[in-house]
Amino acid sequence: MAFQSLFTLVALAAAVVAVPAPQDAQVNCGGGRFVKNAACCAWFPVLDDIQENLFSGSLCAEEAHEALRLTFHDAVGFSIAAEREGQFGGGGADGSILAFSDIETSFAANFGLDFTTEAFIPFALAHKVSFGDFVQFAGAVGVSNCIGGPRLQFLAGRSNNSRPSPDNLVPEPTDSAEKIFERLQDIGFSPIEVVHLLTAHTVSAQYEVDTDVAGSPFDSTPSSFDNQFFVESLLKGTAFTGNGQGGEVTSPIPGEFRLQSDFAISRDSRTACEWQSLVTNHANMVSKFETVMAKLATVGQNPNNLIDCSDVIPVPPAAKVTTGSFPPGKSKADVQSACAATPFPNLATQPGPVTSVLPVTA
Ligand code: HEM
Repeated sequence: MAFQSLFTLVALAAAVVAVPAPQDAQVNCGGGRFVKNAACCAWFPVLDDIQENLFSGSLCAEEAHEALRLTFHDAVGFSIAAEREGQFGGGGADGSILAFSDIETSFAANFGLDFTTEAFIPFALAHKVSFGDFVQFAGAVGVSNCIGGPRLQFLAGRSNNSRPSPDNLVPEPTDSAEKIFERLQDIGFSPIEVVHLLTAHTVSAQYEVDTDVAGSPFDSTPSSFDNQFFVESLLKGTAFTGNGQGGEVTSPIPGEFRLQSDFAISRDSRTACEWQSLVTNHANMVSKFETVMAKLATVGQNPNNLIDCSDVIPVPPAAKVTTGSFPPGKSKADVQSACAATPFPNLATQPGPVTSVLPVTA
């Protein structure tokens, strides 16, 4: 008996001093920062530089939004259908939008992205990282600055060799839901995954669809990665914020801008229920976005050849609210529900007078 107790004690002591298994080993990059793979330490100077000098001190403002948008516009430049027909279909998330910015920003769907590419290129060059890696890194860091944001996977190691993407691969706000679904299906995304991707529009504004109302956001909380975009996009539109051209439809709140493409997908029979399901449950929305963004960031790439440096991406500030709500003055009576299978959930109405939404500034 005594021998058995002694054995137990020795076993316990051994457990306390056990050294971590090799797979848990952490590399010290200095400054209190640790990563699993030593190659990832090189990304901390890039992180510090862009947080300070690109994102104006870790803000979730215009540049962070543009960084997230750029991840899509780079990756979607890929077509398996074109490859099947023996044509070059683009390289996907390969950084060609920076390497050939003069060509790709002349595409209609990339109109206005020349300012973004001009601002981003010097950072990639200064830190000697590939354009493909930089686009995905900047997007992940930018959206981590948003309240309640996702912590996106970041894989490093894309080649810096790319060719200009073919034109007409990036969806436009005037496109039908069918056209967008077909385009994204071509690179492996289902209509439901398109909905998950469009969660990005919760931290978004427009500058180029109508330059007279530049900065008009797609929901009332463009610095918070919350459920408001899904709630507000389902409210009946009452007036145009801009001139009603180029893919704008009426929005429910003065100052808010609604894209025709978002309107169409939110009410399409294939996606309406998934869209509606994202008006509540912030954690579920974020988790679906993280999953689909991991897929987007490796379009045209072999993830097995890349190194997981996700531990360099900052932990986003925690969400303040975990479900959507109606803006002041709005209620369930204003919802244009298109999901036949599930009733629209009961949401609270925010207190206070009806206000307009202010433009996003840099
Ligand atoms: C699938 C169809 C999509 C269409 C038609 C579309 C269209 C647009 C348009 C027209 C704008 C306004 C651009 C401007 O005038 O400055 C915009 C903004 C934005 N989009 Fe999309 N988008 C789509 C999908 C996505 C996806 C998948 C993402 C990211 C994963 C994304 C991220 C953004 C972001 C972050 C902005 C805001 C940029 C800013 O505030 O500066 N979009 N989108």
